[in-house]
Amino acid sequence: MCGIVGYVGPREAYPIILNGLKRLEYRGYDSAGVAIFDGSEIQLCKTKGKVSDLEAKIEGNIQTNGQLGIGHTRWATHGVPNDVNSHPHYSNSGDLVIIHNGIIENYATIKKELINRGYTFQSDTDTEVLVNLIEDIKIKEGVKLGKAVQIALNQVVGAYAIALFDRQKPDEIVVARLGSPLAIGIGDDEFFVASDATPFIEFTNKTVYLKDEEMAIIKAGRDVKIRKIKDDTLVDPYIQELQLNLEQIEKGGYEHFMLKEIYEQPQVIKDTYRGRLLADQGIIKLGGLEDHIHRFINAPRVTIVACGTSWHAGLVAEYIFEDWARIPVEVEYASEFRYRNPVISEKDVIIAISQSGETADTLAAIKLAKQRGAFVYGVCNVVGSSISRETDSGSYTHAGPEIGVASTKAFTTQITVLTMIALRLAQAKGTISTRDYMLHLRELELVPTYVSEALEGDGKIQEIANVFKDAANFLYLGRGYNFPVALEGALKLKEISYIHAEGYPAAEMKHGPIALIDEQMPVVVIAVNSNHYEKVVSNIEEIKARKGKIIAVVTEGDTTVKELADYIMEVPQIPEALTPLVTTIPLQLLSYHIALMLGRNVDQPRNLAKSVTVE
Ligand code: G6P
Repeated sequence: MCGIVGYVGPREAYPIILNGLKRLEYRGYDSAGVAIFDGSEIQLCKTKGKVSDLEAKIEGNIQTNGQLGIGHTRWATHGVPNDVNSHPHYSNSGDLVIIHNGIIENYATIKKELINRGYTFQSDTDTEVLVNLIEDIKIKEGVKLGKAVQIALNQVVGAYAIALFDRQKPDEIVVARLGSPLAIGIGDDEFFVASDATPFIEFTNKTVYLKDEEMAIIKAGRDVKIRKIKDDTLVDPYIQELQLNLEQIEKGGYEHFMLKEIYEQPQVIKDTYRGRLLADQGIIKLGGLEDHIHRFINAPRVTIVACGTSWHAGLVAEYIFEDWARIPVEVEYASEFRYRNPVISEKDVIIAISQSGETADTLAAIKLAKQRGAFVYGVCNVVGSSISRETDSGSYTHAGPEIGVASTKAFTTQITVLTMIALRLAQAKGTISTRDYMLHLRELELVPTYVSEALEGDGKIQEIANVFKDAANFLYLGRGYNFPVALEGALKLKEISYIHAEGYPAAEMKHGPIALIDEQMPVVVIAVNSNHYEKVVSNIEEIKARKGKIIAVVTEGDTTVKELADYIMEVPQIPEALTPLVTTIPLQLLSYHIALMLGRNVDQPRNLAKSVTVE
């Protein structure tokens, strides 16, 4: 969602801001803008559309000199995406300029009061209300910018990451956060501000992640000062040295980030289990888990909270936790969990799964669970993210930065971590035989090779994509461990090709979706070797009888389904519980190729955001 970039220091701000906005494009947005300040004039330009549209609007039309700047990509919440609603926003005097990620829930009331006091508004945004509230306080109370921001933020309800500057303070940016991420990059006599570290990684790896309810005054050439918004207490900045490098956030010869990320899976799965899985010695050791194993073992159940693809990884975990560790598992959409009155006690264990570690609903679900005394374990990809900090313990996935909005490598690395957790718990509880435990350890270690083999089917999958790219609907069916994979396959197709697709447990087809099947309906069936193989074959027969077109994911060497299906996508033989790690690969590739053939924006599909920081 909205992306924020800022710079103050000795360099020209504009190229840094523009490049930073390009790096944040993956978050999803519909408009973009910058404000550059040279100490006397503020140059502000914003537009609906892409960062490239903004660049075109700026080139040759406005002066871009200035050593302080802020930039923004907007994902509309209040007010349609248009030039006026885009950020940055001026205050009425024209002195303050703000960018904002999040929602100010009580903006309407504040706006009314400000209008009564003579303020006028150009846009429909909550952000313009906030900047004028700050201005009003600054003038009324005769305080400096930082203090005015602090007073204003104590009056607003909602979520925000903001960056703003004042014409009267040419070397200072004020930032604050509650609920939306904000990173400060610390260079030599210069500072960078961004929604994540990607916009400034080539300049500095020293980063401070603001915590909720913290604000900072950033002045070129000075130390960063962080304060608590509520009570003004000074906070010692915790400076992290990031491992991220530029190569990781570039396309590396691939046409799209999504394709690069699909192909990175053998490597990142290995990175995720490296040092944690010692198959030869029969050891799984996850740092975050060892001290808390008793919490899991004594828990009446485990509740998994997540959204989107991470929720699908949670569903896979439900099968493996129950199967091996015999722990009851419930998988909840974080957004539903937080607004019910869930029955959670101190004995409960909650696992929160999130690639970004910033999803607002998942964060809120964690907070609710913690209030009720539960132990919360995080499975996150982004180091230092809000969820990784908010949880009691956890395990990172080591997928590296995922830029494509449609999640791919995050999914398989999440499953890798969850599989290791389930195996370790099963071993600790004695609910898995030594033979099965060792078998799965060894096979998990081989998954990167199996995934590489599955990727070899890419050429054939492109041909299948070409046949079905114009279909209006798709059905995805799977059973057992592969039911969540069917859901994930359908989600991938919807997200990036805009073709309607539904995932179903294969046996449920008879209770509704079968009515949709005719010769126009492609049905993707995951029919790999498993306990349900014969049943899935029967489901395929039922579809065939109604003239549906079958695209089947099968185990290499399969003959039965091969005869029945119109097209097949092969994956290597692997123990059933690990099949999601390979069956998901052809489905990712199928949606990628269909979207590409339809001319969609694969990495930045319309309306979607990579990191959903508002509810
Ligand atoms: C958005 C993204 C999805 C992602 C979901 C959950 O909808 O577009 O790809 O699965 O959020 O995100 P998280 O970062 O919490 O895994």
